[in-house]
Amino acid sequence: MTYQQMGNTDFSVSDIILGTWKAGGTGWGAVNDFDSIDTIEYCVDSGVNLIDTATGYGYGRAERLIGFALQGEGGSRKSTAKVMTKWYLWLGEDDVKIRSVSPETQARSLAGSKARLGVDKLDIVLLHRDDKVTPIETAIETLAKFQSEGHISHIGVSNYSLEHLERAQKTAPLQMYQPPFSLLNTTVRDDGRLAFCRENGIAVTVYRVLGGGLLAPRIKDGDEYAFWDPRFESHRGPEFERKKRVHAELGKVAQRFDSSVLQLAVSWVLSHREVTCAIIGATTPEQAAHSLAASGKRLPQNVIDECEEIVTTA
Ligand SMILES: NC(=O)c1ccc[n+]([C@@H]2O[C@H](COP(=O)([O-])OP(=O)(O)OC[C@H]3O[C@@H](n4cnc5c(N)ncnc54)[C@H](OP(=O)(O)O)[C@@H]3O)[C@@H](O)[C@H]2O)c1
Repeated sequence: MTYQQMGNTDFSVSDIILGTWKAGGTGWGAVNDFDSIDTIEYCVDSGVNLIDTATGYGYGRAERLIGFALQGEGGSRKSTAKVMTKWYLWLGEDDVKIRSVSPETQARSLAGSKARLGVDKLDIVLLHRDDKVTPIETAIETLAKFQSEGHISHIGVSNYSLEHLERAQKTAPLQMYQPPFSLLNTTVRDDGRLAFCRENGIAVTVYRVLGGGLLAPRIKDGDEYAFWDPRFESHRGPEFERKKRVHAELGKVAQRFDSSVLQLAVSWVLSHREVTCAIIGATTPEQAAHSLAASGKRLPQNVIDECEEIVTTA
């Protein structure tokens, strides 16, 4: 496993970290709890030292599973792996979805995340999204207050626009930004957000690295997903057929490196110096092992360009 310094902090983080959206069991596939716990344990034992989660992933279920998995083996994994959680989505009375980063919601999330993860202090907390009601400054001031009071070690945001990132950074220094970034979606690089983070010493951990499965070893058709999974709809039609051609062409490039499309996709994001780590959405130890093999592998610029050319022309 290869480690990189997390922005301006003294934390050395693995370049591949584990995501747990699917472990929550809502909104994106589903997985049984034993597989989720096995995957967390496998990743930590393989050197992954950061796990990504959110209150919205199963409305506390993913956080609880992580807390449980890290307590095992006398809590030894708890001392090696940190947890990054995100606040925004929660389930209120009568199962009404609450989307908020107001000071009151953040206070509830702080108590809830601590209890579910079984810790007195949270390692990293990000605001998952702008709730479009709470001013950016109010939301960040609240999070920074919890940090200065010693409840959280590091703070940051996810999915913020460049303008919102700038406003947030003016309010309090951020340590982490989490956007989508992949061969199939380069927006955050092209609109200057990655450069902004680098200039400000903000670590960047990216998601959707596998295009939600489009860059996995095998692309699944929409029919292979549950009707409530967004891929039931999106994995169909002419654009989906084009993505399959992209996958086939990338496969030829991957072969030259004795690797898979998945590993090429992970190496591609890690080859950007602004990227600190890639989140992988593995749900079994076998899937995780496949992705972790890409740790430390960087691509030369001509191959980075060649892959992008395939994505736009295939
Ligand atoms: N900040 C945010 O707003 C945000 C949003 C989304 C995700 N995330 C984080 O990122 C993590 C990853 O999710 P993502 O959306 O970025 O998805 P992703 O990693 O781009 O794709 C994940 C999908 O790839 C497939 N996959 C992964 N490893 C595989 C392997 N070794 N072999 C075969 N298939 C494999 C699985 O598809 P199947 O389901 O078909 O098995 C899995 O659902 C989440 O768990 C979460 O922690 C954050």
